Amino acid sequence: MTDSGSTRRTFLFKAATTAAAVSAASRIDIADHAYAGAGDSLRIGLIGCGGRGTGAAEQALTADRGNALVAMGDAFGNQIESSLSALKGSGAPGLAERVDVPPERRFVGFDAYKHVIDECDIVLLATPPGFRPIHFAYAVEKKKHAFVEKPMAVDGPGLRMFMDAAKKSKELGLSVVNGFCWRYYAPRRELMARVHGGDIGAISTIETTYNSQGVWDPRRTREQCKSEMEYQMRNWYYYSWLSGDHIVEQAVHGIDTMAWAMNDVPPERCWGVGGRQVRTEPKYGNIYDHFSVVYEYPDDVRGYHQCRHWANTPARVADFIQGTKGRADVFGKKISGPSKWRYRADDNAPPLDMYQSEHNEMFAALRDGKPINNAEKAASSTLLALMGRMAAYTGEVITWDKAMNSQESLVPASFDWNDDLPRRPVPVPGVTKFT
Ligand SMILES: NC(=O)c1ccc[n+]([C@@H]2O[C@H](COP(=O)([O-])OP(=O)(O)OC[C@H]3O[C@@H](n4cnc5c(N)ncnc54)[C@H](O)[C@@H]3O)[C@@H](O)[C@H]2O)c1
Repeated sequence: MTDSGSTRRTFLFKAATTAAAVSAASRIDIADHAYAGAGDSLRIGLIGCGGRGTGAAEQALTADRGNALVAMGDAFGNQIESSLSALKGSGAPGLAERVDVPPERRFVGFDAYKHVIDECDIVLLATPPGFRPIHFAYAVEKKKHAFVEKPMAVDGPGLRMFMDAAKKSKELGLSVVNGFCWRYYAPRRELMARVHGGDIGAISTIETTYNSQGVWDPRRTREQCKSEMEYQMRNWYYYSWLSGDHIVEQAVHGIDTMAWAMNDVPPERCWGVGGRQVRTEPKYGNIYDHFSVVYEYPDDVRGYHQCRHWANTPARVADFIQGTKGRADVFGKKISGPSKWRYRADDNAPPLDMYQSEHNEMFAALRDGKPINNAEKAASSTLLALMGRMAAYTGEVITWDKAMNSQESLVPASFDWNDDLPRRPVPVPGVTKFT
């Protein structure tokens, strides 16, 4: 074994065994995948080579010059090729030469994730969230560290699968950093520390809004796709089994802010409304274009969340936390009331790129042998969004426990490119029942 191989083995081993009471059986054996190209390099694998996955790969490579991207997987081969050329052409000093993904380590199709995970030490999971629990469970089974994009699941069974794997990942001492990146934005961290320190008194209400114009229009027509499966996969945002709907896929950032303010204590129940008023054509699949949900927490605390995807209307993404002594304006980075405060960046201010911060912290912690594992919090924030969606889809009051035990499975049991996948109907409150 070379000196550098020994160093790499030591620090990965240290990272994986720092958590208390990690059993010998849980140790990561890295000998099988020592990276010949770069000493104590960590082998990174990317699954889901779209916009976010490509960004996450770049951030992982930037975070630590010892990191190398060695395997990529995607449902579609063209996505891997365009991600590779973006990474190789990124222009960041020293980055392109650590993109070491020869054709034999480019994996295409529904099973690509297994091959990528088998090849790497740390996997970046950035597919549509319908696949997240399956991919994460396999990564944990193979004892791999993971960066896991939000959200963590699109339904109750998937969430429970993710939570089981999250628990196991902790027992194994694995590092699992999630894509709820707003928690890595320095001004917001300082604001939230003040809120938790009592600067606005006791929290009474939280208001989070994610009103935007929407996302990309369907990318392919049915005629351009060889099967219904391909059609839905190409246009994944508009199918609840793939995206979870926009309250789960996108507005979950605001809902996660609510969870953060509440120290991740779950609400007791929620109720809400939603529907589709603007994006009504069949090409927009089965998701809604607006939601409004009220979360009821212990001690009469209320959380209000609104989100919409309406083109040609003003966007508003804003969060406020009202307390008995003051009010925190999360996006305004300020607090009003007796403990008035406004964020001011000085020369010592931490970096403001929250995406980069996630990776910097993840790799620094790994090298220090103190893996970060916030998988369970990420699952909890995902469930908050899921219960809001369930409330709007059915018109029912949804308790935390009810949502946690939901049996409705949106994701198919198996995946085949020739599948004539049924199109789920748009939910109708009062007709669509909670299951
Ligand atoms: N944290 C953030 O701020 C942030 C921002 C954007 C996206 N995201 C999250 O990142 C994820 C991806 O979003 P995106 O914008 O990159 O989407 P995208 O469509 O650009 O990329 C998704 C990629 O995954 C691939 N894919 C789909 N199913 C797959 C499978 N089973 N196996 C392998 N590859 C598969 C697609 O072909 C595509 O290349 C979503 O969960 C999204 O919520 C997070």
